[in-house]
Amino acid sequence: MSKIKAELNNYLYPIPAVPVSCTDGEGHHNIITLAWTGVACGVPPMISIAVNLARYSHNIIKSTKMFCINIPDTEMLYATDYCGNVSGRDVNKFKELSLTPVKGDETGCYYIDECPINIECIVRHTIALGSHELFIGEVVGVYVRDGILTPEGRISTDDINMFAYIGPGYYSIGEKIGQYGYSVKGRSLKT
Ligand SMILES: Cc1cc2nc3c(=O)[nH]c(=O)nc-3n(C[C@H](O)[C@H](O)[C@H](O)COP(=O)(O)O)c2cc1C
Repeated sequence: MSKIKAELNNYLYPIPAVPVSCTDGEGHHNIITLAWTGVACGVPPMISIAVNLARYSHNIIKSTKMFCINIPDTEMLYATDYCGNVSGRDVNKFKELSLTPVKGDETGCYYIDECPINIECIVRHTIALGSHELFIGEVVGVYVRDGILTPEGRISTDDINMFAYIGPGYYSIGEKIGQYGYSVKGRSLKT
């Protein structure tokens, strides 16, 4: 396979696009859409978000040290895109989109009730990287829509119409084509 060198850029695909909510010191809520987010640690559970220094949400998250990741379904696609193209400096996005803010039990940061999963985080580490600052938040609360928890306490993601981001497009999730561990099934491997 022949390769050519490409421009230095972010070629990690696909990635999520999530509306992240934050609440300032005066109790005003905002939503920023982020694609640069990911699981950072298992125990304790941590998630990272990369927020550009120019965003209105940046100062809010930096000063309050809390945020909520809201996992959207396709019904939330319009709102997700909107929250990534309009600033909280100009618009009250919760009001404009008729979304319902609900107070997280652990931090007082509000999440978006219309999203099927909400993850409440406290910022434990802040890393200045350049254009973006990386906030690493410890997960302190998870809220899921009634009916999507399996009897084993797992989230049944098959029941949520999720989508992924392959910039600049949003894509629905296609059919399931494999299962974790299927490549080594029946073999005794030490991991
Ligand atoms: C799909 C999508 C992904 C985005 N990902 C990021 C991101 O990872 N980091 C970031 O700082 N901005 C990202 N943005 C841009 C912000 O969401 C956008 O500038 C937003 O209007 C900022 O809102 P605020 O000023 O109210 O904080 C993204 C926008 C879209 C539409």
